[in-house]
Amino acid sequence: MSQSDILVLGSTGKTGRRVVQALRARGASVRPAGRTAPVRFDWNDQNTWEPALAGVRAAYLVDRQDQPGSWDAAAEIAALAKLAADSGVRRLVLLQARTTGLVGGKDLSAGERGVRESGAAWTVLRPNWFFQNFDEGVLLDAVRSGELRLPAGQGREPFVDAGDVAEVAAAALLEDGHDGRVYDLSGARPLTLAEAAEEISRATGRTVRYEPVAHDAYVSELVSYDVPADYALFVADLVGQIRENLNSAPTDTVERVLGRPPRDFTEFVGESAASGVWAG
Ligand SMILES: NC(=O)c1ccc[n+]([C@@H]2O[C@H](COP(=O)([O-])OP(=O)(O)OC[C@H]3O[C@@H](n4cnc5c(N)ncnc54)[C@H](OP(=O)(O)O)[C@@H]3O)[C@@H](O)[C@H]2O)c1
Repeated sequence: MSQSDILVLGSTGKTGRRVVQALRARGASVRPAGRTAPVRFDWNDQNTWEPALAGVRAAYLVDRQDQPGSWDAAAEIAALAKLAADSGVRRLVLLQARTTGLVGGKDLSAGERGVRESGAAWTVLRPNWFFQNFDEGVLLDAVRSGELRLPAGQGREPFVDAGDVAEVAAAALLEDGHDGRVYDLSGARPLTLAEAAEEISRATGRTVRYEPVAHDAYVSELVSYDVPADYALFVADLVGQIRENLNSAPTDTVERVLGRPPRDFTEFVGESAASGVWAG
């Protein structure tokens, strides 16, 4: 492996996969890592951390805060960031989330302090909800079923393309000028879930309805499907941030970093519809 590799965690995931592509497109040598990736990295197995970091000059860090279970995310990320800096990694780009306060008891920016204090140069990315939740993530099955039942009320979210997040990450990993920055990353248009569903209906020719549900009813519904109660509350609280318009103001960060506007939701919907991913 090259001494100039860039380590990418979560390389099978929505942003990590695209960060690998964006870095390779710019000629960088990449080390894709994860539990099932060519280089093994498991947050639950610290024995995998040091080998993954050996000889790496920069790293893209993805935590797993959106998954069931509880752990000390701040301590975990701080430990990895410190190990990385001590192993000679000079630059860390950490993916967190654009949320406000605690979500189901979790701070989705808990890792920021760890990278700030690691000794490496750092950039933190805090994106809004990804477009790709609709076609490869948590909302895919609901879109296919034709009904999005969520406690999002009539709130708005400036959904952002995971590809834009990945390009910003690649810029921060490869270029000077991003060190010590916290980037809030949004798309250009704050959309309600009803508007998002209408766009998908128009593009697919199938009716996808948004059905607002109450927070507590949603938690009970998830629990009735055997979702652990603490995780059900986390998901409901995360969606509740949309209902309360807590992070609904668009930012210009994607355009400032990439020199072009963020990808539009309509373009994303058109391409996903054409791919057949939402076919019933
Ligand atoms: N989804 C969104 O809209 C959104 C918006 C803003 C911020 N975020 C943040 O982005 C992060 C990732 O969320 P995502 O939804 O985009 O998920 P994702 O990256 O699509 O999937 C999770 C990734 O993490 C890896 N992973 C899971 N458990 C792991 C473990 N124990 N050790 C090592 N790698 C592990 C998975 O790879 P393997 O299964 O192959 O190991 C996968 O590549 C979270 O911190 C979330 O808060 C997400």
